[in-house]
Amino acid sequence: MPALAAAVDWTAPTSASAADAGRARLELRGLRKTLGDTAAVNGIDLRIASGESVVLLGPSGCGKTTTLRMVAGFIQPDGGEIHLDGVLASNASFALPPEKRRLGMVFQTYAVWPHKTVTDNVAYGLEVAGRSRAEIKAETGAVLDLVQLGGLANRFPAELSGGQQQRVALARALATKPSLLLLDEPLSNLDATLREEMRFELRGLQKNLGITTLYVTHDQDEALVLADRIVVMNKGRIEQIGTPEEVYHRPASRFVGGFIGIANMLEGEVAAVDRVGGRVLVALDAGDRLWSRAPERWLADATPGSRATVLLRPQDIKLERPEQPDQEAGTEATFVSETFLGNHYELKLQAGGTLLRVQSRVRGTFEDGRTRLWARAGSAWVVA
Ligand SMILES: Nc1ncnc2c1ncn2[C@@H]1O[C@H](COP(=O)(O)OP(=O)(O)OP(=O)(O)O)[C@@H](O)[C@H]1O
Ligand SMILES: [Mg+2]
Repeated sequence: MPALAAAVDWTAPTSASAADAGRARLELRGLRKTLGDTAAVNGIDLRIASGESVVLLGPSGCGKTTTLRMVAGFIQPDGGEIHLDGVLASNASFALPPEKRRLGMVFQTYAVWPHKTVTDNVAYGLEVAGRSRAEIKAETGAVLDLVQLGGLANRFPAELSGGQQQRVALARALATKPSLLLLDEPLSNLDATLREEMRFELRGLQKNLGITTLYVTHDQDEALVLADRIVVMNKGRIEQIGTPEEVYHRPASRFVGGFIGIANMLEGEVAAVDRVGGRVLVALDAGDRLWSRAPERWLADATPGSRATVLLRPQDIKLERPEQPDQEAGTEATFVSETFLGNHYELKLQAGGTLLRVQSRVRGTFEDGRTRLWARAGSAWVVA
Protein backbone atom coordinates (compact mmCIF):
# COMPACT_ATOMS: atom_id res chain seq x y z
CA MET A 1 0.00 0.00 0.00
CA PRO A 2 1.31 3.52 -0.72
CA ALA A 3 3.16 5.38 2.01
CA LEU A 4 0.40 7.80 2.93
CA ALA A 5 -2.13 5.09 3.61
CA ALA A 6 0.31 3.33 5.89
CA ALA A 7 1.29 6.52 7.70
CA VAL A 8 -2.20 7.78 8.46
CA ASP A 9 -4.98 6.12 10.36
CA TRP A 10 -7.92 7.25 8.24
CA THR A 11 -10.42 5.32 10.29
CA ALA A 12 -9.69 7.03 13.60
CA PRO A 13 -12.53 9.25 14.82
CA THR A 14 -11.74 12.96 14.83
CA SER A 15 -12.44 13.45 18.49
CA ALA A 16 -9.93 11.23 20.21
CA SER A 17 -12.14 9.69 22.88
CA ALA A 18 -12.66 5.96 22.46
CA ALA A 19 -16.33 6.43 23.30
CA ASP A 20 -16.75 8.17 19.96
CA ALA A 21 -15.73 5.12 17.99
CA GLY A 22 -19.28 3.77 17.72
CA ARG A 23 -20.73 7.06 16.53
CA ALA A 24 -21.79 7.71 12.98
CA ARG A 25 -19.24 9.78 11.14
CA LEU A 26 -22.13 11.63 9.53
CA GLU A 27 -25.72 11.70 10.63
CA LEU A 28 -28.60 13.52 8.93
CA ARG A 29 -31.82 13.87 10.87
CA GLY A 30 -34.99 15.09 9.16
CA LEU A 31 -32.94 17.35 6.89
CA ARG A 32 -34.95 19.86 4.84
CA LYS A 33 -34.19 22.69 2.43
CA THR A 34 -36.51 24.71 0.19
CA LEU A 35 -34.93 26.52 -2.75
CA GLY A 36 -37.18 29.01 -4.55
CA ASP A 37 -40.52 27.21 -4.44
CA THR A 38 -39.01 23.70 -4.60
CA ALA A 39 -38.71 21.40 -1.60
CA ALA A 40 -35.23 20.43 -2.82
CA VAL A 41 -34.55 18.23 0.22
CA ASN A 42 -37.66 17.13 2.03
CA GLY A 43 -36.89 15.19 5.20
CA ILE A 44 -33.78 13.03 4.94
CA ASP A 45 -32.51 10.64 7.61
CA LEU A 46 -29.17 8.92 7.08
CA ARG A 47 -26.29 7.55 9.14
CA ILE A 48 -22.88 6.89 7.64
CA ALA A 49 -20.46 4.76 9.62
CA SER A 50 -16.72 5.30 9.76
CA GLY A 51 -15.02 3.88 6.67
CA GLU A 52 -18.26 3.47 4.76
CA SER A 53 -18.83 4.54 1.17
CA VAL A 54 -22.38 5.80 0.65
CA VAL A 55 -23.69 6.94 -2.73
CA LEU A 56 -26.61 9.32 -3.20
CA LEU A 57 -28.23 8.20 -6.44
CA GLY A 58 -31.21 9.74 -8.19
CA PRO A 59 -32.42 11.60 -11.25
CA SER A 60 -31.54 15.19 -12.05
CA GLY A 61 -33.10 17.63 -9.61
CA CYS A 62 -33.84 15.10 -6.84
CA GLY A 63 -31.79 17.03 -4.26
CA LYS A 64 -28.41 15.25 -4.24
CA THR A 65 -26.21 18.33 -4.60
CA THR A 66 -28.34 20.32 -2.17
CA THR A 67 -27.86 17.56 0.43
CA LEU A 68 -24.10 17.51 -0.15
CA ARG A 69 -23.84 21.31 0.06
CA MET A 70 -25.63 21.27 3.39
CA VAL A 71 -23.19 18.65 4.69
CA ALA A 72 -20.30 20.80 3.44
CA GLY A 73 -21.76 23.84 5.23
CA PHE A 74 -22.19 25.96 2.08
CA ILE A 75 -25.92 26.23 2.65
CA GLN A 76 -27.91 26.02 5.83
CA PRO A 77 -30.88 23.67 6.28
CA ASP A 78 -34.39 25.03 6.92
CA GLY A 79 -35.03 22.12 9.25
CA GLY A 80 -33.40 19.05 10.70
CA GLU A 81 -29.83 18.49 11.85
CA ILE A 82 -26.42 17.46 10.59
CA HIS A 83 -24.02 15.79 13.00
CA LEU A 84 -20.36 15.08 12.28
CA ASP A 85 -18.72 12.58 14.62
CA GLY A 86 -21.60 13.07 17.02
CA VAL A 87 -21.22 16.86 17.13
CA LEU A 88 -23.89 19.22 15.79
CA ALA A 89 -22.62 20.85 12.59
CA SER A 90 -25.83 22.44 11.22
CA ASN A 91 -29.43 23.09 12.01
CA ALA A 92 -31.78 25.94 11.07
CA SER A 93 -30.14 28.31 13.55
CA PHE A 94 -26.54 27.10 13.79
CA ALA A 95 -23.83 26.36 11.24
CA LEU A 96 -20.24 25.32 11.82
CA PRO A 97 -18.17 27.02 9.10
CA PRO A 98 -17.09 24.71 6.22
CA GLU A 99 -13.37 24.92 7.11
CA LYS A 100 -14.08 23.62 10.62
CA ARG A 101 -15.78 20.45 9.33
CA ARG A 102 -12.65 18.48 8.32
CA LEU A 103 -14.04 17.62 4.91
CA GLY A 104 -12.42 16.90 1.57
CA MET A 105 -14.41 17.87 -1.50
CA VAL A 106 -14.27 16.99 -5.19
CA PHE A 107 -16.67 18.43 -7.74
CA GLN A 108 -17.66 17.81 -11.34
CA THR A 109 -15.63 20.80 -12.52
CA TYR A 110 -12.16 19.99 -11.23
CA ALA A 111 -11.69 23.45 -9.77
CA VAL A 112 -7.92 23.13 -9.66
CA TRP A 113 -5.93 26.38 -9.73
CA PRO A 114 -4.62 26.93 -13.26
CA HIS A 115 -1.69 29.10 -12.15
CA LYS A 116 -0.35 26.56 -9.63
CA THR A 117 1.58 23.39 -10.41
CA VAL A 118 0.21 20.00 -9.46
CA THR A 119 2.35 19.99 -6.32
CA ASP A 120 1.31 23.52 -5.32
CA ASN A 121 -2.36 22.71 -5.87
CA VAL A 122 -2.09 19.77 -3.51
CA ALA A 123 0.14 21.54 -0.98
CA TYR A 124 -2.20 24.52 -0.60
CA GLY A 125 -4.50 22.99 2.00
CA LEU A 126 -1.53 21.89 4.08
CA GLU A 127 0.00 25.37 3.92
CA VAL A 128 -3.25 26.93 5.11
CA ALA A 129 -3.27 24.42 7.95
CA GLY A 130 0.18 25.75 8.94
CA ARG A 131 2.13 22.55 8.43
CA SER A 132 5.94 22.62 8.30
CA ARG A 133 7.71 22.66 4.91
CA ALA A 134 9.13 19.19 5.47
CA GLU A 135 5.72 17.77 6.32
CA ILE A 136 4.12 19.45 3.32
CA LYS A 137 6.76 18.03 0.99
CA ALA A 138 6.44 14.50 2.34
CA GLU A 139 2.67 14.42 2.42
CA THR A 140 2.21 16.04 -0.97
CA GLY A 141 4.58 13.51 -2.49
CA ALA A 142 2.78 10.61 -0.82
CA VAL A 143 -0.69 11.70 -1.86
CA LEU A 144 0.44 12.32 -5.46
CA ASP A 145 1.87 8.79 -5.59
CA LEU A 146 -1.41 7.52 -4.26
CA VAL A 147 -3.35 8.97 -7.21
CA GLN A 148 -0.54 8.04 -9.63
CA LEU A 149 0.54 11.58 -10.40
CA GLY A 150 4.03 11.35 -8.91
CA GLY A 151 5.64 11.83 -12.31
CA LEU A 152 3.64 14.94 -13.18
CA ALA A 153 4.21 16.96 -10.02
CA ASN A 154 5.68 20.02 -11.74
CA ARG A 155 3.14 20.37 -14.53
CA PHE A 156 0.40 22.98 -14.68
CA PRO A 157 -3.25 21.87 -14.99
CA ALA A 158 -3.40 23.02 -18.65
CA GLU A 159 -0.72 20.41 -19.38
CA LEU A 160 -2.87 17.57 -17.99
CA SER A 161 -5.75 15.48 -19.34
CA GLY A 162 -9.20 15.77 -17.78
CA GLY A 163 -8.67 12.54 -15.86
CA GLN A 164 -5.33 13.75 -14.53
CA GLN A 165 -6.83 17.09 -13.49
CA GLN A 166 -9.54 15.26 -11.63
CA ARG A 167 -6.81 13.24 -9.86
CA VAL A 168 -5.19 16.52 -8.78
CA ALA A 169 -8.53 17.60 -7.31
CA LEU A 170 -8.79 14.26 -5.53
CA ALA A 171 -5.22 14.48 -4.22
CA ARG A 172 -5.89 17.98 -2.94
CA ALA A 173 -9.01 16.75 -1.15
CA LEU A 174 -7.16 13.82 0.41
CA ALA A 175 -4.03 15.74 1.43
CA THR A 176 -5.53 17.25 4.55
CA LYS A 177 -6.75 13.80 5.71
CA PRO A 178 -10.39 14.72 5.91
CA SER A 179 -12.74 12.97 8.26
CA LEU A 180 -15.26 12.71 5.43
CA LEU A 181 -14.78 12.90 1.67
CA LEU A 182 -17.61 14.49 -0.36
CA LEU A 183 -17.71 13.95 -4.11
CA ASP A 184 -20.33 15.44 -6.45
CA GLU A 185 -20.38 13.78 -9.90
CA PRO A 186 -16.56 13.84 -9.98
CA LEU A 187 -16.32 11.70 -13.11
CA SER A 188 -19.03 13.18 -15.29
CA ASN A 189 -16.70 15.47 -17.27
CA LEU A 190 -14.54 12.52 -18.34
CA ASP A 191 -15.03 10.46 -21.48
CA ALA A 192 -16.84 7.14 -21.15
CA THR A 193 -13.76 4.85 -21.08
CA LEU A 194 -11.87 6.90 -18.52
CA ARG A 195 -15.00 7.33 -16.41
CA GLU A 196 -15.44 3.58 -16.29
CA GLU A 197 -11.79 3.02 -15.37
CA MET A 198 -11.75 5.70 -12.68
CA ARG A 199 -14.80 4.25 -10.92
CA PHE A 200 -12.77 1.18 -10.05
CA GLU A 201 -9.71 3.24 -9.21
CA LEU A 202 -11.71 5.44 -6.82
CA ARG A 203 -13.33 2.43 -5.23
CA GLY A 204 -9.93 0.78 -4.69
CA LEU A 205 -8.56 3.95 -3.14
CA GLN A 206 -11.59 4.38 -0.88
CA LYS A 207 -11.33 0.81 0.37
CA ASN A 208 -7.55 0.89 0.87
CA LEU A 209 -7.68 4.14 2.81
CA GLY A 210 -10.88 3.21 4.63
CA ILE A 211 -11.97 6.81 4.15
CA THR A 212 -15.59 7.65 4.87
CA THR A 213 -17.17 8.83 1.64
CA LEU A 214 -20.41 10.44 0.52
CA TYR A 215 -20.59 10.30 -3.27
CA VAL A 216 -23.24 11.88 -5.49
CA THR A 217 -24.14 10.56 -8.92
CA HIS A 218 -27.08 10.01 -11.24
CA ASP A 219 -25.23 7.10 -12.89
CA GLN A 220 -26.49 3.75 -11.62
CA ASP A 221 -23.43 1.79 -12.75
CA GLU A 222 -21.13 4.20 -10.96
CA ALA A 223 -23.25 3.81 -7.83
CA LEU A 224 -23.12 0.02 -7.99
CA VAL A 225 -19.30 0.04 -8.23
CA LEU A 226 -18.64 2.68 -5.58
CA ALA A 227 -21.16 2.04 -2.85
CA ASP A 228 -21.24 -0.03 0.29
CA ARG A 229 -24.78 1.35 0.51
CA ILE A 230 -26.82 3.22 -2.06
CA VAL A 231 -29.34 5.89 -1.07
CA VAL A 232 -31.89 6.19 -3.85
CA MET A 233 -33.44 9.66 -3.87
CA ASN A 234 -36.52 10.96 -5.65
CA LYS A 235 -38.02 14.45 -5.35
CA GLY A 236 -36.13 15.41 -2.21
CA ARG A 237 -36.86 12.20 -0.36
CA ILE A 238 -35.21 8.83 0.17
CA GLU A 239 -36.93 5.96 -1.64
CA GLN A 240 -34.61 3.24 -0.37
CA ILE A 241 -31.31 2.70 1.43
CA GLY A 242 -29.60 -0.60 0.80
CA THR A 243 -26.58 -2.49 -0.47
CA PRO A 244 -26.17 -2.55 -4.26
CA GLU A 245 -27.59 -6.10 -4.25
CA GLU A 246 -30.62 -5.06 -2.17
CA VAL A 247 -31.60 -2.09 -4.31
CA TYR A 248 -31.08 -4.08 -7.51
CA HIS A 249 -32.77 -7.37 -6.54
CA ARG A 250 -35.25 -6.11 -3.96
CA PRO A 251 -36.23 -2.58 -4.90
CA ALA A 252 -38.62 -1.03 -2.38
CA SER A 253 -40.68 0.75 -5.01
CA ARG A 254 -41.50 0.82 -8.68
CA PHE A 255 -39.36 3.96 -8.94
CA VAL A 256 -36.24 2.23 -7.57
CA GLY A 257 -36.83 -0.87 -9.72
CA GLY A 258 -37.06 1.28 -12.82
CA PHE A 259 -34.14 3.56 -11.97
CA ILE A 260 -31.51 0.89 -11.29
CA GLY A 261 -30.93 -1.57 -14.11
CA ILE A 262 -33.35 -2.53 -16.85
CA ALA A 263 -36.74 -3.49 -15.46
CA ASN A 264 -39.60 -5.41 -16.99
CA MET A 265 -42.82 -4.69 -15.12
CA LEU A 266 -45.65 -7.19 -15.52
CA GLU A 267 -49.08 -6.31 -14.19
CA GLY A 268 -51.37 -8.86 -12.57
CA GLU A 269 -53.69 -9.77 -9.74
CA VAL A 270 -52.89 -11.68 -6.56
CA ALA A 271 -54.34 -15.22 -6.72
CA ALA A 272 -52.89 -16.57 -3.46
CA VAL A 273 -50.77 -15.30 -0.56
CA ASP A 274 -48.03 -17.40 1.10
CA ARG A 275 -46.98 -15.20 4.05
CA VAL A 276 -44.73 -17.86 5.55
CA GLY A 277 -42.85 -18.27 2.28
CA GLY A 278 -42.79 -14.48 1.73
CA ARG A 279 -44.38 -14.76 -1.70
CA VAL A 280 -47.59 -14.38 -3.65
CA LEU A 281 -49.03 -16.17 -6.65
CA VAL A 282 -49.79 -13.53 -9.29
CA ALA A 283 -52.20 -14.13 -12.16
CA LEU A 284 -50.46 -12.10 -14.85
CA ASP A 285 -52.61 -10.04 -17.20
CA ALA A 286 -50.36 -11.40 -19.96
CA GLY A 287 -51.34 -14.98 -19.02
CA ASP A 288 -50.12 -17.71 -16.63
CA ARG A 289 -49.63 -17.59 -12.88
CA LEU A 290 -46.26 -16.76 -11.36
CA TRP A 291 -44.92 -17.09 -7.79
CA SER A 292 -43.20 -13.88 -6.85
CA ARG A 293 -41.35 -12.77 -3.71
CA ALA A 294 -42.53 -9.51 -2.20
CA PRO A 295 -41.50 -6.88 0.39
CA GLU A 296 -42.72 -7.78 3.89
CA ARG A 297 -44.75 -4.59 4.33
CA TRP A 298 -46.59 -5.08 1.06
CA LEU A 299 -47.14 -8.76 1.79
CA ALA A 300 -48.79 -7.94 5.12
CA ASP A 301 -51.66 -6.15 3.33
CA ALA A 302 -51.88 -8.35 0.23
CA THR A 303 -55.09 -10.33 -0.31
CA PRO A 304 -56.37 -12.33 -3.27
CA GLY A 305 -57.67 -9.82 -5.79
CA SER A 306 -55.07 -7.08 -4.95
CA ARG A 307 -53.26 -5.66 -7.95
CA ALA A 308 -49.53 -6.41 -8.18
CA THR A 309 -46.66 -5.30 -10.38
CA VAL A 310 -43.99 -7.94 -10.85
CA LEU A 311 -40.41 -6.94 -11.68
CA LEU A 312 -38.33 -9.22 -13.86
CA ARG A 313 -34.77 -8.39 -14.94
CA PRO A 314 -33.93 -9.12 -18.61
CA GLN A 315 -31.46 -11.87 -17.69
CA ASP A 316 -34.07 -13.58 -15.48
CA ILE A 317 -36.53 -14.24 -18.32
CA LYS A 318 -35.95 -17.62 -19.90
CA LEU A 319 -37.03 -18.89 -23.32
CA GLU A 320 -36.82 -22.50 -22.15
CA ARG A 321 -38.79 -24.07 -19.33
CA PRO A 322 -36.52 -24.26 -16.22
CA GLU A 323 -36.37 -27.47 -14.16
CA GLN A 324 -38.32 -26.02 -11.23
CA PRO A 325 -40.34 -23.16 -12.65
CA ASP A 326 -42.22 -20.70 -10.43
CA GLN A 327 -45.02 -20.80 -12.95
CA GLU A 328 -47.03 -23.27 -14.95
CA ALA A 329 -47.33 -23.15 -18.71
CA GLY A 330 -45.15 -20.06 -19.24
CA THR A 331 -46.33 -16.72 -20.57
CA GLU A 332 -46.97 -16.47 -24.27
CA ALA A 333 -45.01 -13.77 -26.10
CA THR A 334 -44.61 -12.63 -29.69
CA PHE A 335 -41.33 -11.79 -31.39
CA VAL A 336 -40.49 -8.12 -31.97
CA SER A 337 -36.72 -8.03 -32.52
CA GLU A 338 -33.48 -9.86 -31.77
CA THR A 339 -29.96 -8.39 -31.68
CA PHE A 340 -26.72 -10.31 -31.20
CA LEU A 341 -24.51 -8.51 -28.65
CA GLY A 342 -21.50 -10.80 -28.38
CA ASN A 343 -22.12 -12.54 -25.05
CA HIS A 344 -25.92 -12.60 -25.30
CA TYR A 345 -28.92 -11.96 -27.52
CA GLU A 346 -31.01 -8.90 -26.70
CA LEU A 347 -34.63 -9.64 -27.52
CA LYS A 348 -37.72 -7.50 -27.55
CA LEU A 349 -40.91 -9.47 -27.07
CA GLN A 350 -44.53 -8.53 -26.64
CA ALA A 351 -46.42 -10.23 -23.79
CA GLY A 352 -50.01 -9.11 -23.34
CA GLY A 353 -49.80 -5.34 -23.64
CA THR A 354 -46.20 -5.17 -22.37
CA LEU A 355 -42.99 -4.87 -24.37
CA LEU A 356 -40.38 -7.00 -22.61
CA ARG A 357 -36.60 -6.86 -22.82
CA VAL A 358 -34.92 -10.23 -22.55
CA GLN A 359 -31.21 -11.10 -22.46
CA SER A 360 -30.66 -14.67 -23.49
CA ARG A 361 -27.51 -16.78 -23.89
CA VAL A 362 -29.34 -18.94 -26.42
CA ARG A 363 -31.03 -17.87 -29.58
CA GLY A 364 -34.82 -17.93 -29.34
CA THR A 365 -36.88 -20.40 -31.34
CA PHE A 366 -40.21 -19.08 -32.54
CA GLU A 367 -43.17 -20.77 -34.15
CA ASP A 368 -45.19 -18.29 -36.17
CA GLY A 369 -43.34 -15.57 -34.26
CA ARG A 370 -44.47 -16.93 -30.89
CA THR A 371 -42.66 -18.38 -27.89
CA ARG A 372 -43.17 -19.07 -24.19
CA LEU A 373 -41.34 -17.29 -21.39
CA TRP A 374 -40.48 -18.34 -17.85
CA ALA A 375 -39.06 -16.42 -14.94
CA ARG A 376 -35.83 -17.83 -13.51
CA ALA A 377 -36.79 -19.58 -10.25
CA GLY A 378 -36.87 -17.13 -7.32
CA SER A 379 -36.24 -14.05 -9.48
CA ALA A 380 -39.70 -12.46 -9.66
CA TRP A 381 -40.21 -9.57 -7.22
CA VAL A 382 -43.31 -7.50 -6.49
CA VAL A 383 -42.63 -3.74 -6.60
CA ALA A 384 -46.12 -2.46 -5.85
N1 LIG B 1 -30.58 28.22 -6.28
C1 LIG B 1 -31.72 27.59 -6.53
N2 LIG B 1 -32.89 28.23 -6.61
C2 LIG B 1 -34.06 27.58 -6.84
N3 LIG B 1 -34.14 26.25 -7.00
C3 LIG B 1 -33.01 25.55 -6.94
C4 LIG B 1 -31.73 26.16 -6.71
N4 LIG B 1 -30.79 25.19 -6.70
C5 LIG B 1 -31.43 24.04 -6.92
N5 LIG B 1 -32.76 24.23 -7.06
C6 LIG B 1 -33.78 23.18 -7.28
O1 LIG B 1 -33.70 22.26 -6.22
C7 LIG B 1 -33.88 20.92 -6.69
C8 LIG B 1 -32.70 20.06 -6.29
O2 LIG B 1 -31.53 20.51 -6.93
P1 LIG B 1 -30.14 19.74 -6.79
O3 LIG B 1 -29.10 20.58 -7.45
O4 LIG B 1 -29.93 19.38 -5.37
O5 LIG B 1 -30.42 18.43 -7.66
P2 LIG B 1 -29.43 17.24 -8.06
O6 LIG B 1 -30.07 15.99 -7.54
O7 LIG B 1 -28.06 17.53 -7.62
O8 LIG B 1 -29.54 17.23 -9.66
P3 LIG B 1 -28.42 16.99 -10.79
O9 LIG B 1 -28.29 15.50 -10.95
O10 LIG B 1 -29.03 17.61 -12.01
O11 LIG B 1 -27.15 17.67 -10.37
C9 LIG B 1 -34.06 21.05 -8.20
O12 LIG B 1 -35.42 20.98 -8.49
C10 LIG B 1 -33.49 22.40 -8.54
O13 LIG B 1 -34.13 22.96 -9.67
MG1 LIG C 1 -26.27 17.86 -8.67
